[in-house]
Amino acid sequence: MTALAQRKIVLGVTGGIAAYKSADLTRRLQDVGAEVRVVMTPAATQFVAPLTFQALSGNPVHLDLLDPAAEAAMGHIELARWADLVLVAPASADFMARLAHGLADDLLTTLCLATDAPIVLAPAMNRLMWRNPATRDNVALLQRRGIRLLGPTAGSQACGEVGEGRMLEPLEIVQALSEEGAGQGRLAGRTVLVTAGPTYEAIDPVRFIGNRSSGRMGYAVAAAARRAGARVLLVSGPSQQSTPPGVERIDVTSAAEMYRAVMDRLGEIDIFIGAAAVADYRPAQAANAKIKKDAETLTLALERTEDILQAVAMQPRPPFTVGFAAETHDLERYARDKLARKKLDMIAANWVGGETGFDSVDNALEVFWADGHASLGRQSKDKLAEQLVDLIAERYHAKHSA
Ligand code: PMT
Repeated sequence: MTALAQRKIVLGVTGGIAAYKSADLTRRLQDVGAEVRVVMTPAATQFVAPLTFQALSGNPVHLDLLDPAAEAAMGHIELARWADLVLVAPASADFMARLAHGLADDLLTTLCLATDAPIVLAPAMNRLMWRNPATRDNVALLQRRGIRLLGPTAGSQACGEVGEGRMLEPLEIVQALSEEGAGQGRLAGRTVLVTAGPTYEAIDPVRFIGNRSSGRMGYAVAAAARRAGARVLLVSGPSQQSTPPGVERIDVTSAAEMYRAVMDRLGEIDIFIGAAAVADYRPAQAANAKIKKDAETLTLALERTEDILQAVAMQPRPPFTVGFAAETHDLERYARDKLARKKLDMIAANWVGGETGFDSVDNALEVFWADGHASLGRQSKDKLAEQLVDLIAERYHAKHSA
């Protein structure tokens, strides 16, 4: 069974010569077991007849927002709710501009506004239109909102020019969606960013301030989120753990690098999980050369690092934000305080300094959110991560359906 089997996909077709490829795409999606309903913009119908899509998908094609007969059969809100995934292929420059600016002037844009299913676009347009600053800005805006793009690719174009702007081939689109696990699992179609491991703060070129985090907990969480169907980005400090299958790993060393790596990807993510043991302080001035042992004592001036978790949670439109808390005493009091003070959606607190926590195989977590609590008893970090991701998925969906 592929990641797309039994998934309900609204295939939006907008006006462009690549619309003919979407007929094949409909078939390819069905071949891997997806259920497809097609929505066409008025411009798309100038390129391919709706009847083609009706025959291929086996369902009536949805064309008009204001068609009482079509609305009676399956209204646009119903269609928006029905979808596990909205795939727009080809996505024209005009459609992306209207989507970026929240217009709801046809059935497809209205449906995109009304759905909470993930939206994926496969752009197709002339290379200069793709390069145009207006299109670049619209693409950046859409990506910041979590809308994903597949392609375009470079090659010869219908207009006779050669360059970037060709829609991906139907098989490539199906493959990309299948690989991302879009549409399957509790976190299907969501992007999760996990931080893991320690950070190293340079004292001089050969010495650093670090901690005992192995990365095991964060890597286990990343693997569990991937198994739950999410696209997973793992921002990792120095760690010997191997990258879980299907997870995109970004290596960093210091807190400042981890902060940058997270901030650069904020626009792509739905859920942030901070499992890293980020240094709270770093040497105010790292020496350029190895420090010699001339003096009897050495005093290092330290300065605060960036608080990554807080920076994520304080965004105007933050992702669902989960922090960890590593405590040696008063676990619940400190965890609840961090939950409220940093405006987190959830916090997973662990006892450290004994047999669990840093660099251990087992761990135990007390998980808190505004109106709830769960105790996840001592077990392997892999099993614990599975349960934590279940809880996160449940709270994430509860928040988004509220
Ligand atoms: O890696 P392992 O060996 O498997 O160990 C797992 C672990 C014990 C490291 C992990 O379970 C854990 O508790 N991680 C968080 C450790 C920590 O730094 O806790 P804290 O209470 O100091 O920080 C609270 C939260 O703020 C954490 O989510 C942390 O990632 C985040 N933080 C802290 C400082 C900072 N500058 N930026 C941050 O984002």
